[in-house]
Amino acid sequence: MRTLVERSNLKALQGRTFSSFFPQENQKLAYSRASEFAERPEGWLVLLGGVGTGKTHLAAAIGNRRLELAEPAIFLVVPDLLDHLRATFSPAGETPFDELFESVKTAPLLILDDLGTQTTTPWATEKLFQILNYRYMMRLPTVVTTNVPLEELGDRLASRMADPELSIPVSIAGPDLRTGRESATQRPSPPPGRGRPPQRGRYS
Ligand SMILES: Nc1ncnc2c1ncn2[C@@H]1O[C@H](COP(=O)(O)OP(=O)(O)OP(=O)(O)O)[C@@H](O)[C@H]1O
Ligand SMILES: [Mg+2]
Repeated sequence: MRTLVERSNLKALQGRTFSSFFPQENQKLAYSRASEFAERPEGWLVLLGGVGTGKTHLAAAIGNRRLELAEPAIFLVVPDLLDHLRATFSPAGETPFDELFESVKTAPLLILDDLGTQTTTPWATEKLFQILNYRYMMRLPTVVTTNVPLEELGDRLASRMADPELSIPVSIAGPDLRTGRESATQRPSPPPGRGRPPQRGRYS
């Protein structure tokens, strides 16, 4: 069986780089935060915004830049991660659950795309919390994208993701660049600097 890293790598997103991203006004802050993070991943970078605002592209660009520097990065779409974990949880799974879970928990750089879109079961919620809580405690570099307002991810996750000691939340307002349609919420990005509280309201 291919490893989790191989199954969840950036191959399909190899074209999503900083040089293929032409930041519009509303994306400039997120672009600069993401490119700084890519050069020196420290703490957490949380990209918030409506559908089609460039979150996945920037998250993948971070991963691609780390690979270019011959540094490790694991890019995982959260619902896929939970599927992998569920599959290995069964006795038929070829990769032991613990091994997989540990490799995600301890990855030197973990990029979690689309947090909050997964079907939530108590089990999935707990597994995700364990991964993020470990990374929070260990201060491990992590990128999270979501189009769900932080507070809707639950108090425990929201609190960690908004901790100014560790995390930089950056929101991207603007239209859906796939369709050109305005997203439901138009919200200015917070000014530079750590310590911003999570942005309130619905992003998609
Ligand atoms: N500034 C940009 N320059 C070039 N391409 C862009 C830019 N912003 C977004 N795109 C492209 O627009 C499309 C949508 O972006 P992306 O997939 O990153 O959105 P998203 O915020 O992750 O959306 P969702 O919430 O639906 O996952 C992608 O094809 C992406 O490459
Ligand atoms: Mg996306």
